[in-house]
Amino acid sequence: MQEVLKKKSLEKRVLAPRESRKTIGNINVQNPRMVCRNVDVYYDDKQAIRKVSIDIGRNEVLAMIGPSGCGKSTFLRCLNRMNDTIDGCRVTGKILFDGKDIYDSSVDVVPLRAQIGMVFQKPNPFPKSIYENVSWAPKIHGLAESKAEADEIVESSLHKAGLWDEVKDRLDQPGTGLSGGQQQRLCIARAIAVSPEVILMDEPCSALDPIATAKIEDLIDELREQYTIVIVTHSMQQASRVSQRTAFFHLGDLIEVGSTDTIFTKPSHQLTEDYITGRYG
Ligand SMILES: Nc1ncnc2c1ncn2[C@@H]1O[C@H](COP(=O)(O)OP(=O)(O)OP(=O)(O)O)[C@@H](O)[C@H]1O
Ligand SMILES: [Mg+2]
Repeated sequence: MQEVLKKKSLEKRVLAPRESRKTIGNINVQNPRMVCRNVDVYYDDKQAIRKVSIDIGRNEVLAMIGPSGCGKSTFLRCLNRMNDTIDGCRVTGKILFDGKDIYDSSVDVVPLRAQIGMVFQKPNPFPKSIYENVSWAPKIHGLAESKAEADEIVESSLHKAGLWDEVKDRLDQPGTGLSGGQQQRLCIARAIAVSPEVILMDEPCSALDPIATAKIEDLIDELREQYTIVIVTHSMQQASRVSQRTAFFHLGDLIEVGSTDTIFTKPSHQLTEDYITGRYG
């Protein structure tokens, strides 16, 4: 009987009018790096993100979790205007980066995407050498004018990405010849090379084995000292290992946000609890 009642009330919650699903938890942080307010995203006339408001703090890792199709990648792409590249995708609401509206018509998206870099699910090195993978963007952005400057950026970025020792003797070889985990660290080095402020990661470990995953997770922890990181993950363990705050999405709504500890031990919303305990997925 209890079970039936619980199931009924859960169905009611799931089917409740979506307008009523206000975010639970504190969306604010002190001294935020990014501020998102009432963000809506449409693919043609289909709404994928509904009125999402959240701050993203400095030197924090924010994990975004939720069932497949709930809008995690869509929301992540809003943060550096990557959705601009998708036909029919429309973003409304406000997203501020250090107080500036990134959707303002005066904003040039090329430097914006360097400041707010992205690492994708599948490692995607350019079909070029390891050296060129890292040095290309700094050259384009005018950060490396001489060979010596480029050398320095390549070495320090590969160091920060934890890859230097493994590749220092073969910098002229193709990036695509590295292992999957090494390729992903190369992509992280490439993002770091232009001195970003924020790094967005969309399931960066989902194509990697546990050892490569552990290396990336350690790296994320180190990078947090210098960068703001937003990571989408399907792994609860990963979210709890690497993040300080967690945001749970469901059907385009931001259902709950809070400290990672609280979300994983004392979630307030039934949907969050059901998701983290694996009752649906
Ligand atoms: N390019 C697109 N054109 C049309 N609809 C899209 C597009 N990309 C995503 N969608 C839709 O928007 C919704 C959110 O998709 P999104 O990829 O953001 O989900 P997700 O949470 O990242 O899922 P997953 O965990 O499977 O990666 C889904 O209904 C999806 O079908
Ligand atoms: Mg996704």
